[in-house]
Amino acid sequence: MMLFNKLQRFTVSALIFSSVTAYAAENNQSNLGSELYHDYCSVCHGDTGKAAVWAQSGLSPSPRNFTTRQSKEELGNNKKRMIFSVTYGRPQTAMQGWGKRLRPYEIEAMVDYIRLNFMNITEEPVEPDHTDVGAHDHSRHFGEDMNSPIPDGLLGDYQKGKDLFENSCVPCHGDKGDGEGPRSRFIFPKPRDFKHPAALAKYSRPHLYNFVHTGRRGTEMPAWRLVLSDQQIADVVEYVFKAFIRPPKEEK
Ligand code: HEC
Ligand code: HEC
Repeated sequence: MMLFNKLQRFTVSALIFSSVTAYAAENNQSNLGSELYHDYCSVCHGDTGKAAVWAQSGLSPSPRNFTTRQSKEELGNNKKRMIFSVTYGRPQTAMQGWGKRLRPYEIEAMVDYIRLNFMNITEEPVEPDHTDVGAHDHSRHFGEDMNSPIPDGLLGDYQKGKDLFENSCVPCHGDKGDGEGPRSRFIFPKPRDFKHPAALAKYSRPHLYNFVHTGRRGTEMPAWRLVLSDQQIADVVEYVFKAFIRPPKEEK
């Protein structure tokens, strides 16, 4: 009986102790997120997460207002997309990537802070899966395997792809792939810059293949399957991948 009591007391105090440390750790993490957010992010996103007043008219697109229903719908189920955007930035917007300046746990702490305080998300919902590469949602591409081959067993021909690229893609994406082709000035949203850090992290061969195939509705990016054969799409993908995303190291 004595022994049992002791044991019980021990277990109870161990339980209290471990929940206290867990609480402290959680609290530290949220202090960290709060501090970093106010140091680096509130200048644009505002202290209350609603986008700073100056930035609402001064930046186009304006910074994300985290408190809206739209934000909750787009980002609520997608912490990974938020981490990706904070790490690599959002192409063609004022949202730059922080991955070179802040550590991954610091980025996650800020994202947790935003989710809890501005989006009212208390527990983690299930992350969406990442297998559906053809979908239009950018976020699904986080964690791309950059070594994956083109789907359907196709092999792209770099040289043929280069010719296709020059004829079909350069007017918008530019010969440097920076999205500054001659037509780009008249287009909104602008063509993508293939050298942007977010692109370098995401545009695997399957991603490129599926995207070029389908295009993006509501933008000037055509669905190339209507114009090119699957083999030609594979060719152009091979070119884009090797010329811009992962140039092979020069052989000496
Ligand atoms: C110079 C202004 C600026 C600063 C500083 C800034 N942001 Fe942003 N942020 C933006 C803009 C603009 C957007 C909207 C981008 C878009 O429309 O795709 C945005 C979007 C976002 C999004 C949504 C991304 C998505 O996938 O839709 C998140 C999350 C975010 N910012 C977090 C942060 C965090 C965390 C920091 C601080 C480390 C930060 N931002 C600092 C301007 C800024
Ligand atoms: C008429 C202009 C136009 C042409 C021609 C064009 N694109 Fe695009 N492309 C765009 C625009 C605009 C976007 C950005 C769409 C958006 O904002 O979501 C884009 C986006 C992309 C993306 C980004 C995918 C992503 O996940 O964000 C890739 C890859 C791409 N284009 C490849 C190509 C290739 C390869 C060709 C040639 C076969 C091509 N594009 C021709 C306008 C064009």
